[in-house]
Amino acid sequence: MLIKRLRGWEIPEHLVTPESVFLDRRALLGGSAGLAAAAMLGGRALAETGPYPAPRNDAYALDRPLTPEKFSGDYNNFYEFGTSKTVLPAADALKTSPWTIKVDGLVEKPFDIGVEDLVRKVGLEERLYRHRCVEAWSMSVPWTGFPLAKLVALAKPASGAKYVQLTTFLDRKMAPGQRTFYPWPYVEGLTMEEAGNDLAFIATGIYGKPLPNQFGAPIRLALPWKYGFKSIKSIVKVSFVAERPKTFWEALGPSEYGFWANVNPAVPHPRWSQASERVLGTDTRVPTLIYNGYGEQVAGLYKDLQGERLFA
Ligand code: MTE
Repeated sequence: MLIKRLRGWEIPEHLVTPESVFLDRRALLGGSAGLAAAAMLGGRALAETGPYPAPRNDAYALDRPLTPEKFSGDYNNFYEFGTSKTVLPAADALKTSPWTIKVDGLVEKPFDIGVEDLVRKVGLEERLYRHRCVEAWSMSVPWTGFPLAKLVALAKPASGAKYVQLTTFLDRKMAPGQRTFYPWPYVEGLTMEEAGNDLAFIATGIYGKPLPNQFGAPIRLALPWKYGFKSIKSIVKVSFVAERPKTFWEALGPSEYGFWANVNPAVPHPRWSQASERVLGTDTRVPTLIYNGYGEQVAGLYKDLQGERLFA
């Protein structure tokens, strides 16, 4: 979903859905190095969002193998650190501690909370989720985190709050990608009903340890029934608002990337099919499922929204 300033918002097709150029790079935090190693990397402090590994919630199982970290950890979209999939080295510049999240907007009382305090309040669990990028690749990973609904409950939103708007950090010095023309900071949003769905998950870890930087450390969203761009990384602000947020990708290419972005194999992207997906770490394609296989849990959210562009 690379967008370069060509003519208007034209997107060069050859830069979309790149084929498997996997570098078998050693994982940033391999094996069970655990929190001690994770908390200090190359002399830099990382947010201690432990303890890891957290107990697995078996209600969120998968019918396909987990994607090994050597593939998912070196094939990332994190435009703050460049448009290449190999952002791992550049994302090393992300300073994740201290990390404070601002909760504001239509809430009983706005507050700031450190990510460690937040985790202490809400607890952690592990879930196995699918992830389907709009570029037609997918992975299956064990996230560690907590339901977004727990953060909503802490925030005590007012009745006028209709949407949750999430914002990534803005630091042009730290993140070279933010020196480009894109509409920084990265913003995403979902309705209060979506945020209250049990599948909406805030992740602080993956593969049984804190998030390595390139995955969006120290805290990100995981919305498995939506295209991956909805799963915003490195969140610094959670705002409760009355109006539908204008999201990063919607601002860049409204005809290609909408607010809802629910996975649907029957609705092609304007420039490519969404019928199947390439599973990271393999050369095979598998059929894509409506709502990425989570229809039973989420289809009801959209029953009264049939006039909306739910699948773009
Ligand atoms: N969040 C921010 N802040 N910046 C980004 O570039 N990319 C999105 C999403 N969240 C992105 C982001 C896209 S397009 C995808 S597919 C997923 O993150 C990729 O997550 P992963 O790198 O952990 O696989």
